Amino acid sequence: MEYRGYDSAGIAVADGQGAINMAKRAGKLANLEERIAEVGENSLAGCTAIGHTRWATHGRPTDANAHPHMSYDGKVAIVHNGIIENFAPLRAELEAAGISLVSDTDSEVAAHLLARAYNEGETAEDFQASALSVLNRLEGAFTLLFMHADHPDMIIAARRSTPLILGVGEGEMFLGSDVAAFIEFTRNAVELEQDSVVIVHADEYQLMHFDGSKASATPFTIDWDLAAAEKGGFDSFMMKEIHEQPSAVRDTLAGHFHDGRVVLDEQHLTEEELKYIDQVFVVACGSAYHSGLLAKYAIEHWVRIPVQIEVASEFRYRDPVLDERTLVLAISQSGETADTLEAVRHAKSQGAKVLAVCNTNGSQIPRESDAVLYTHAGPEIGVASTKAFLAQVAANYIVGLALAQAKGTKYPDEIAEIYDTLEAIPAKVEELLACEGPVNDIAKELGAIRTMLFLGRGVGFPVALEGALKLKELAYIHAEGFPAGELKHGPIALIEDDLPVVVIVPSPRGVKLLHSKIVSNIQEIRARGAKTIVIAEEGDDAVVPYATWLIRIPETSTIMQPLLATVPLQFLAAEIARQCGNEDIDKPRNLAKSVTVE
Ligand code: F6R
Repeated sequence: MEYRGYDSAGIAVADGQGAINMAKRAGKLANLEERIAEVGENSLAGCTAIGHTRWATHGRPTDANAHPHMSYDGKVAIVHNGIIENFAPLRAELEAAGISLVSDTDSEVAAHLLARAYNEGETAEDFQASALSVLNRLEGAFTLLFMHADHPDMIIAARRSTPLILGVGEGEMFLGSDVAAFIEFTRNAVELEQDSVVIVHADEYQLMHFDGSKASATPFTIDWDLAAAEKGGFDSFMMKEIHEQPSAVRDTLAGHFHDGRVVLDEQHLTEEELKYIDQVFVVACGSAYHSGLLAKYAIEHWVRIPVQIEVASEFRYRDPVLDERTLVLAISQSGETADTLEAVRHAKSQGAKVLAVCNTNGSQIPRESDAVLYTHAGPEIGVASTKAFLAQVAANYIVGLALAQAKGTKYPDEIAEIYDTLEAIPAKVEELLACEGPVNDIAKELGAIRTMLFLGRGVGFPVALEGALKLKELAYIHAEGFPAGELKHGPIALIEDDLPVVVIVPSPRGVKLLHSKIVSNIQEIRARGAKTIVIAEEGDDAVVPYATWLIRIPETSTIMQPLLATVPLQFLAAEIARQCGNEDIDKPRNLAKSVTVE
């Protein structure tokens, strides 16, 4: 689970004889492995264990703040994902009772509260009742796993607004934030309902709500390929995932065009519902947001209804005007991003219809949405999004075409033609993967850089933003994406000798004006000493004189070009990162794959 957080890691094991042993360390999982080697694996022997990889919210990434956390009497161990919002009064209460906390985390309170509930009062000696009483006192979002030294044959786990999946094996059980944690051992899984608890023994489990009443959950079979979650010969998951982009897009498109009509997923809005929509809001974060910008271009162009886009974390704080004729398109690879989830909840509370574009089956955002269109990119382990981004763009375009079909803004033959162009993309991405070597050479020739700019116009602008984000994430180099036309309104002051500037050039076969304007922009920056890395279509000769380096991409329509132009930028960021000495591009510092806190 390290891709979800790698600020620190730890494990606690019940030895079955009344004790819980623990090892934890700041930093990546490898540090924990070293620690376990130091203490000796035998000191962590047992049949019940909880482990955690942390992404710090409260308190720095230190050994003391690493999970698991142990209670004052050494009997309870817990791990927690999320944020306990009322931890300050709970901490004060514990301190007033003479319990001193050893970490700066919000999580530690849960361990002490459980020990107190078990040691005294109404719930004394009753592990289950003690756990329920603690859960009912906590506010915020949490997945919590509780272990008690006196009950070494069980784990009590609970979830509220953060993920928790149970893997059901033969004589063994697993709990994880997602299925990647245990697909190696079992494909039978159960997704817990919100605000529910599972009491887990090696060969049985029992579900309940926080008030102790019986809860239910639907078991499902995990269809992800195990090999897909491994590196497949590449030196990083991210490189493997970049190379999987043709199939990510192909699989996402598969089955969505039959008999001349765009077809949505099973959980969909009807044609009547889509027809009724008169405005769209797109909410998403990071790369998913960039894919959403492309949804805006496509939907406005094809459907002729207004599309607004907002980073999900801002959406509900500015009172957007939503009603039952509004479609909110929520885009999320993980389906768990707290900012996007809250935006979905806000949209629903205002009566809007929510359509999720998501890569993770059974995750929270699709569950809470009216409809879902799954991207079929397969598991994305590298923290920086690559194949999921391309798959999101493809899925967003399917949504755009479905709306155009329902509202009759495009003729069926026009829709079929656009779908054909979309279906031709995977083969072109395949061809484009050959640019890896030349792009790596450019990265090497660039030498040491402090900053890099990315320019695009029209659909090239979101590509510029995505290219800049990849470089920031992977190489820790300051980078910014601008609409090329904005350059003269300020950013051009940044241009100096040898500053590398990436320019995404639209097809000369598309809107002529757009192309000629960007050619002028490249001239302007070259004239001021910048080094230009120009991404342009095969056969576009107008750009040749102004390109320090030229990266060719296959021909396609203007709207589809982002699905190609993004690819070399992924290679570029990865290679610059390596040149900067950041070998582990799968796990950039300070980031986590699923951001389940707001
Ligand atoms: C960037 C990246 C992030 C995610 C963002 C949203 O490479 O991976 O910016 O795109 O955190 O995540 P999801 O799509 O899971 O909601």
